[in-house]
Amino acid sequence: MSKNPLAIIILAAGKGTRMKSPKPKVMHELAGKPMINWLLDTATALNPEKIIVVAGPDMPELESAVAPHATVIQEQQNGTGDAIKPALPLLEGFAGQVLILMGDEPLIPLETLQDLANREGLSALAFNTNTPAGLGRVLQNPDGTLQSIIEDKDCTPEQTQITLCNAATYSVPASNLAKWINQISDDNAQGEYYLTDLPRIAANDGAPTQIIAIEWQGSWGINTRTQLAAHEQMLQTRLREALMDSGVTMQDPATVYLWHDTKIASPCTLEPNIYCGPAVTIEKNTTIKAFTHLEGTHIKSGASIGPFARLRPGAKIAQDVRIGNFVEIKNAQIGERSKIGHLAYVGDACLDEDVNFSAGAITVNYDGFQKHQTIIGKNVMIGSNVNLVAPIQVGDDAFVAAGSTITEDVPSGALSIAREPSEIRKGWAAKYRKIKQAAKDKLAG
Ligand code: UD1
Ligand code: MG
Repeated sequence: MSKNPLAIIILAAGKGTRMKSPKPKVMHELAGKPMINWLLDTATALNPEKIIVVAGPDMPELESAVAPHATVIQEQQNGTGDAIKPALPLLEGFAGQVLILMGDEPLIPLETLQDLANREGLSALAFNTNTPAGLGRVLQNPDGTLQSIIEDKDCTPEQTQITLCNAATYSVPASNLAKWINQISDDNAQGEYYLTDLPRIAANDGAPTQIIAIEWQGSWGINTRTQLAAHEQMLQTRLREALMDSGVTMQDPATVYLWHDTKIASPCTLEPNIYCGPAVTIEKNTTIKAFTHLEGTHIKSGASIGPFARLRPGAKIAQDVRIGNFVEIKNAQIGERSKIGHLAYVGDACLDEDVNFSAGAITVNYDGFQKHQTIIGKNVMIGSNVNLVAPIQVGDDAFVAAGSTITEDVPSGALSIAREPSEIRKGWAAKYRKIKQAAKDKLAG
């Protein structure tokens, strides 16, 4: 909670040309969630009276992503100063501070915004960098207060040497916002209405102008896909640290990828190179071994998954299950203590408790037109290299012999076997070698 009544404007109307993307820049995802929604999470935590998102025309996906917060439209992208104008009518009668945030700086820390929200007058976030090219430069008065911000393209050669840069996040008194915004002109190198003119205008109006210096890697925003990737790394570090702080062990954290909604209870161990896609829940005392790919899966406690396992959407893994290497599971429930140790495919299936599903066995779930179910009872042994042609049911305690292609239901307690009987021909190998060697010698002359 801030001490001033608070409103927040988020600028998100820019075309994001540098992303070279058909979708609005702020809809690009970090850990599977649009960057605008990460910023909205932080903005909402400040408990403002209103949040207004400025979108461009033809950005319906952005409007739905930010709902129920208000969206206003900037008809033409004439610059960040112009972008504030459509938000002004929604602020009529509002008295307090207005935070102006850039939609392309989604990971800004909550504490930084809290500090900004508690200021009076005009404040701008600034940071020092050795690579300031492209950023607005911050000019200070001798007493350290904020004099003005000069965009990179408008800098003199001397000004380009300034390393204090504009993080483009501002706190402005609502009472003066409209007056100051309407004084911004487009008389600059890019012919745009720069929001960065605001401090100079406020200072000329006699308002106090402050710099809040921050050390935060995300201050340059996301303008390119390289910067998107850098933010993804920052976010992944944040997500991984939160899990490790809660008691999850990661043997090589940098190689673990998490989705925004990944849930991992503690204690759990994650070996190196794990990918968690959407909707992954892992209960406690589970080990996820190296090179495992998880999506849309719920893994109950005590399970061991991988190495090299792939759990696809709808994989529901019960307690103490063992899933080994090169096993793929999709839309299937695996009952308690069941084991699928190696090289298997289980799709559209339900395995009860204590099933052993051996190497090379698969469910044949697709007939070229439809998917069909495989139902396997308790304590069943499915031998190696078995094809279970669905729809099919295997009753409790049954055995299915290795190498069988099974097309009929198997009753409880039965053995189902479907393979050619084997045959032994004694002394065959020596005779065969003799014939073949003679033929080879003849050809060689
Ligand atoms: C901006 C600042 C720069 C600062 C940098 C830090 C300006 C003029 N420059 O530059 O001083 O160092 O951020 O990241 O503000 N937007 C609109 N309407 C527009 C143009 C932009 O809504 O007409 C939105 C964009 O969607 C984006 C944000 O404003 O979310 C910033 O725009 P962007 O073009 O990325 O500005 P930068 O060049 O990064
Ligand atoms: Mg930017």
